[in-house]
Amino acid sequence: MQKLIIQGGSPLRGEIRISGAKNAALPVLCAALLTSDTLSIKNVPHLQDVTTMLSLLEQMGADILTNNQSEVELTATNLINPVAPYEMVKTMRAAILVLGPLLARTGEANISLPGGCAIGLRPVDQHIKGLQAMGAEITIKHGYIHAVAKQLRGARIMMDIVTVTGTENLMMAATLAEGTTILENAAHEPEIIDLANCLIAMGAKISGAGTDIITIQGVKSLHGTQHTVMPDRIETGTFLVAGVATGGEIHLTETYPHLLDAVLGKLTEAGANIESGDNWIHLKMSARPKSISLRTAPYPAFPTDMQAQFMSLNCIATGTAMITETIFENRLMHVQELKRMNADIEVEGHTAVIRGIPELDAANVMATDLRASASLVIAGLIAQGETVIDRIYHLDRGYECIEEKLSNLGAQILRTN
Ligand code: UD1
Repeated sequence: MQKLIIQGGSPLRGEIRISGAKNAALPVLCAALLTSDTLSIKNVPHLQDVTTMLSLLEQMGADILTNNQSEVELTATNLINPVAPYEMVKTMRAAILVLGPLLARTGEANISLPGGCAIGLRPVDQHIKGLQAMGAEITIKHGYIHAVAKQLRGARIMMDIVTVTGTENLMMAATLAEGTTILENAAHEPEIIDLANCLIAMGAKISGAGTDIITIQGVKSLHGTQHTVMPDRIETGTFLVAGVATGGEIHLTETYPHLLDAVLGKLTEAGANIESGDNWIHLKMSARPKSISLRTAPYPAFPTDMQAQFMSLNCIATGTAMITETIFENRLMHVQELKRMNADIEVEGHTAVIRGIPELDAANVMATDLRASASLVIAGLIAQGETVIDRIYHLDRGYECIEEKLSNLGAQILRTN
């Protein structure tokens, strides 16, 4: 199993380019299932989750025509196997995103239930409830969701909770339904707007993406198009936190600062000097950071996907911070690992109280999920000595060329087997 070895203590300095967003690329790839034409997608990040999604689409019958650094082109003309097997869904929960488009296009889908995952239970009841409202017959047997619908019908769907992939799944299914679908209490995440833009370019009729209420007027068929995936706001935030934590100066290009208001606000509170333009962010940090209390919540509030990284920052900040996780039940697993590095953190329920100390101690630690891995990388960059991070396959699911990018910023980081 591969590991990362980090010699901590060097401030990050320099410029890097931010990759396309994982959470936008995955649903956009699934949108290819909605048409028999070719979908050409630019700025797709090269990540394990993208590879898994392409394999899943391929085994359903999609043809991957191009897959290189700048573009992925795929055509789902003959969908012969509307199945997402357990082996694939268990490694990537976002595989549930094939359910809506597959059902809408072929009339059938058989998708393994994602089940529990490390950060929480993460049920898919809202995806199922929405498709049922659109006329799908759904049975759950042998751990699979079996959905059948000759023709989905538009419906008014009130989602009980705000769910990102739930909103995306139902929005994709509704594009080919007969009549109008109204999704209420929809998620606002920018990745939903990115997907809607791709679907609209494919001929879908969607309004309200990025607000509480999304209206989709079904059409008979969709066509191919070319789409460029939005920049990854979580990768951007992760590098910014690393810049602040190490007391460095970094310049990030090809990213959208306006999607990171909550994160940039917190980093300014921590003492960072931040300048930005339409598609770049420049950050400079010269003192020890101040502690930052926060509460995760759906967009545009503070993202749960940035919580772990801010936990590491708080470990070496001046003062005491409180971090409350409100989206997932079990997303504080990095705390145990950070404590191995001498961090002073106490957890009570879903809240962590972090008392900042001047420096962390390097140690052997283990990544438990994607964003927890990022927090350990940041901790390794600021700790004194050599930190070894095990189980970095979690990191490879969501960060493109992370050690290469960090090395370019002056970090001493190495991957070993
Ligand atoms: C997406 C993101 C993930 C991010 C999360 C929250 C992708 C591929 N992943 O995950 O990076 O951390 O949003 O911003 O975009 N829930 C239910 N029933 C459902 C669906 C969700 O109870 O049918 C619950 C979940 O257990 C969780 C909460 O709703 O507690 C939010 O989950 P959701 O927004 O669905 O997260 P994902 O879409 O899986």
